[in-house]
Amino acid sequence: MANNEDAFKKVVSHAKEYGFIFPSSEIYDGLGAVYDYGQLGTELKNNIKSYWWKSMVQYHENIVGIDSAIFMHPKIWKASGHVDAFNDPLIDNKDSKKRYRADVLIEDHIAKIEEKIEKEVEKARKRFGDAFDRDQFVHTNARVLEHQAKIDDITRRYSQCMNDNDLAGLRQLILDLEIVCPISGTRNWTEVRQFNLMFATQMGSVSEGSDTIYLRPETAQGIFVNFLNVQKSGRMKIPFGIAQIGKAFRNEIVARQFIFRMREFEQMEMQFFVRPGEELKWFEYWKAERLKWHLALGIPAENYRYHDHEKLAHYANAATDIEFRFPFGFKELEGIHSRTDFDLSRHSEFSGKKLQYFDSELGENYTPYVIETSIGVDRTFLAVFSHALKDETLEDGTTRTLLSLPPVLAPYKAAILPLVKKDGLPEKARAIFDSLKHDFMLQYDEKDAIGRRYRRQDAIGTPFCITVDNDTLDNDTVTVRERDTMQQERVAIDQLDSYLHRRIKPITID
Ligand code: GAP
Repeated sequence: MANNEDAFKKVVSHAKEYGFIFPSSEIYDGLGAVYDYGQLGTELKNNIKSYWWKSMVQYHENIVGIDSAIFMHPKIWKASGHVDAFNDPLIDNKDSKKRYRADVLIEDHIAKIEEKIEKEVEKARKRFGDAFDRDQFVHTNARVLEHQAKIDDITRRYSQCMNDNDLAGLRQLILDLEIVCPISGTRNWTEVRQFNLMFATQMGSVSEGSDTIYLRPETAQGIFVNFLNVQKSGRMKIPFGIAQIGKAFRNEIVARQFIFRMREFEQMEMQFFVRPGEELKWFEYWKAERLKWHLALGIPAENYRYHDHEKLAHYANAATDIEFRFPFGFKELEGIHSRTDFDLSRHSEFSGKKLQYFDSELGENYTPYVIETSIGVDRTFLAVFSHALKDETLEDGTTRTLLSLPPVLAPYKAAILPLVKKDGLPEKARAIFDSLKHDFMLQYDEKDAIGRRYRRQDAIGTPFCITVDNDTLDNDTVTVRERDTMQQERVAIDQLDSYLHRRIKPITID
């Protein structure tokens, strides 16, 4: 791709052209930061959710899954701190009249300095070749040290302002760093104001005296308020986890970057309840486990990195993000938080119900501590989709658009293609389709020359094309073409089921 911006545009247009993602309410000119998933997008999204659910709930005896309601008692959001503290600091540019998140302006500024460091590293890597030691270089090179000192200074001031809710200090930092509005190019900034991100609505008719309730901004609270229900009905013993996948809603003011930041999105969250004092051990465990989950998709490790938090949320005593290299740079994909006993204690306090656990081994009651893993379905979609999309030049000079999705996530696992539309090949292909369709999402296609059909499947990420030809009628074998390598091999029809199962499994990471 020509550059990152072009690559990102191509992601958005490819997603629409092939039925993955459409702007919501498009015939009414769309609705800001809201998207619909089309026929292939829905399959990919469901596969992401199933891959997560299996690895969390099915593969862990001590993790169970729930599905709590989106509407919850309004006191829950008071207890969780969202009514008082779930805010974004906003700032407007007086010339362009554009609104920005003050924290994002500062973080983008830091990211630009980080890019400068990366450029120095790349230059040195080229210069020193195999002998290059990145660690040594970044700790000794004068220019890198200078950039790093700037980052450290900004991060310190920024964290202080965010922790102290010092809005004037945030504005001053933006002025001191000479950050300009990308539209007007000026530094004519307003004061910084706090803006609550929760959507409010009314429950019950106005005449009855309706109550204000909120659309949940995270799924986590539905887990906390069901802690006792699940623990007692499932006779769960600590340590244990409760997982949930569901919609969340945030009135994001700066909603850009396609499905990266949406107003309606989906989360996959797991709260892991542990003994007080053991939380940091479990935090490290989940930090490593979650990265393995990503790597098992086969996307190279250099596309992921941890970002440990300096500024901790009001409920956390440790936190890290797993960041992914999106087309617009490294950004948060997943959060892992050590949430202490904050949520259970607050819900005990606000509800008057004791949310505790009797540990029979220790012979004592306590409020469990919690490690949370929280990942966006849509961000995972964008990560795998943008990484997979490539324009490839082949040996014969022709090009193809390839969507090299991890096979376990691909909408269709295989396409069944009769070589020609005659001689009994379509009937044979249909019979193969019928024998495999209970286990795999398949597409049957008999239109156009075989080369064009392969290209269509490459563009939607189908990992295997199964071609039925005249030999198939004689010896019950088919040609299986692998999407990324385009290599073909002959496979017996009665082996197809086990062949596909074996080839679409995620890889194992130790
Ligand atoms: N329960 C903790 C929590 O909600 P978060 O870091 O605010 O933590 C967790 O959100 C994940 O949810 C993020 O890492 C991201 O993947 C996803 N997410 C958050 N806001 C989003 C948005 N506006 N659009 C899409 N995904 C979002």
